[in-house]
Parts: sequence; structure tokens; C-alpha cells
Amino acid sequence: MNHLVIMAGGVGSRFWPLSSEVVPKQFLDVLGCGKTLIQLTVDRFKDIVPMENIWIVTSEKYKATIAEQLPEVPVANVLFEPCRRNTAPCICYVSYKIKKRDPRANIVVTPSDHVVLDSSTFRSVVENAMEFSAETDAIVTLGMRPTRPETGYGYIKADLTFSSSRKKDIFRVDSFKEKPNLELAEEYVKHDNYLWNSGIFIWSVSTIINAFRVYEPDMSKAFERLTPVYDTAEEQERINELYPSLENISVDYAILEKAEEIFVCPASFGWSDLGTWTSLRDNSQKDRYGNAGIGQDINFYDSFNCVVHAEKLKKVVVQGLDGYVVAERDGTLLICKLSEEQRIKLFHD
Ligand code: GDD
Ligand code: MG
Repeated sequence: MNHLVIMAGGVGSRFWPLSSEVVPKQFLDVLGCGKTLIQLTVDRFKDIVPMENIWIVTSEKYKATIAEQLPEVPVANVLFEPCRRNTAPCICYVSYKIKKRDPRANIVVTPSDHVVLDSSTFRSVVENAMEFSAETDAIVTLGMRPTRPETGYGYIKADLTFSSSRKKDIFRVDSFKEKPNLELAEEYVKHDNYLWNSGIFIWSVSTIINAFRVYEPDMSKAFERLTPVYDTAEEQERINELYPSLENISVDYAILEKAEEIFVCPASFGWSDLGTWTSLRDNSQKDRYGNAGIGQDINFYDSFNCVVHAEKLKKVVVQGLDGYVVAERDGTLLICKLSEEQRIKLFHD
């Protein structure tokens, strides 16, 4: 059976003041479309995975928010981490839980805060990759064609001459580099065979558990040992005891950079990680001067390439700004040059 894992434990610190520890961006209607990013994520997979096989891994702080925004996701499938340890422990934990319920599960893992514009292409790409992972021991990632030397993404070096014998549009990965420096990223974008890692992974439950056994044996043993208590009253308490001792590492560093049998499915479906204000501007409707306003009555004069987010304000006027973000939430106001936006996470606690 197909299962979906939604990783929803991040705080989106570059998206402050809209996103914060109290309400991270995945639970916000960032695009102003009437749905939050996590609701859009579930919608995108509705026809691929049955609702009873949707899993969410997050913090207990967001329990009520999830129940309110996603009442259709079974309560037993929402897993709570007592502290953030990045995506490797999150994936390891949920994989053992899924294995207990469905040892033959075929899994797609996704972040909770991305935008996909072309959902029908997205669906056929994911279904194709899931057919492949169900038949093989492959770790599959979806690769996006880079449009700029972004240092916030992982890069996949694909061997485009070597497609798998089963699927001609799925290729072997030569190497994987998580978040390179600018010099490397500038080099990578010059070549056709470097793709952005979308952070969407596809694998069978046995494949990913074997990878954890090999590359993260301690982490893997720790979650495997807890198998008897999963789905019992004791589970949360044991997880709470275990988590602080776990290595804080992303799945990209823990598994992807090390594993040998990785495949990539190059795809194009209007994807973006809404990680920064610039990415929000690029994914929103803009006026002819490149300004995006999300809110009720936002007016730009002599301004270019700005993004304004102010849903609760009655009226906003921006004059004479070029390349700025102006964002208001709960009485907090940010005005920042977009070229300096990587510093935003340093401006708040
Ligand atoms: N449950 C849980 N626990 N979820 C987490 C945690 C955690 O400790 N940390 C992060 N997440 C969730 C975030 O909410 C997000 O949905 C997803 O995992 C990915 O984490 P990010 O922190 O957004 O990762 P990133 O954007 O820096 O990098 C990853 O995604 C890029 C594409 O968006 C990597 O996979 C890169 O290689 C990739 O290019
Ligand atoms: Mg991200």
C-alpha cells in the first residue's frame, strides 16, 4: 500500500515574522489562497495515497492546529517529537511505525511547506516513481532543474546516460551534495546533469529501514527497540525519553550523501520551497513592476520587486521601495532588503 509521510516539524525561521515557533509557515495560508501549506500538501496527494495512510511528524505544540486544519488525517498517524532533531530521526521513527502496520509499505516523504503549481504532472511523476520503488530497492528523489545558484538546496548529480532498465525517465545518481557553498552552486548550475533535490523522497519501507541500519545504526536500533510499545499508551513517554539523545541530522546528510543506490526522477511541475520572502514573491501574483501584495488593500507607488504581506491591516501603502519585504504579523513589523533576507533568522530569537 502507498503511504505518505509529511514532515512538519520545522519553524521556517527565514520567514519571520509571518512564520514563527508559535505558528510555523506550514500552518499558515502563506499564499493567501484560503488554504494553509500543509492543507495544500495533503490535497496534492489525495489521489495517490488513501487518507488512512497519511502520516504527519511534528511537535506536540501543533496538535490542536493539525486536528483543526486536517481533521481527516487519523489521530493515530500524527506523531509527536518532543524536540527537533532534524529530518533523519523523524523519518526513522515514522518508518518503524509504518513497518509495524504495513511491512510491505511503499512510502513517499514530503516537506509540508512547498508549492507545486502543476498538480496533475506532479501526480503522474510521483505515481511513476512509486511504481519504481515498489519494484526495486531504490531510494528515489525528485530532481528539479536549477534556475539559479541557490545555496539553500541540495544538488543531485545525475548520470543522464544511465536510466534504469525498468523506467527510462528515472536515472542513476552519481553523487549528492547537500547545500553547497556559492562557488560550487555557481559551477553546478552551468551543467545540465545537476538538479535540485526537491526534498521529496520515495522508497519502500524495507529500503529506507535498511539504509538507516547501515548508515545510522544507533538511531535505527533505538527506534527498532521501541517497536513493541508503538501504538500503546507507553509510546509517547518512551519517545520523549529517547529524543534528546538522538543525533541532530538531516536525512540528506545521514542517508542521501552516503547511500549508493539512489535514483532521480527529473521533473518540472512548478516547484518551489517557500523558504524565503523572495520565493513567496516569485510564486505570487505580481503587478507589472514585480510587486506582490498579500493582504486586503495593498498599494504600491514607484516601487519595484517588493513583497508585502499584511493580512490583518486595513490598508498598506508602499512608496519608493525597490527589492524589499514588508511583513506584519501580530503587531510585529519587518522591513528588510530582500538581498539581505538570509539574515532574517538572526533578527529574532
Ligand atoms: N518532524 C520534523 N522534525 N520535521 C522537520 C524537522 C524536525 O526536526 N526539521 C525540519 N522538518 C521539516 C520541515 O518542516 C520541512 O517541511 C521539511 O522537514 C524539510 O526541512 P527544511 O528545514 O525545510 O529543509 P531545507 O529546506 O533546509 O532542505 C531540504 O529541503 C530542500 C528542498 O526544499 C533538503 O532536503 C535539501 O536537500 C532540499 O533541496
Ligand atoms: Mg525547506
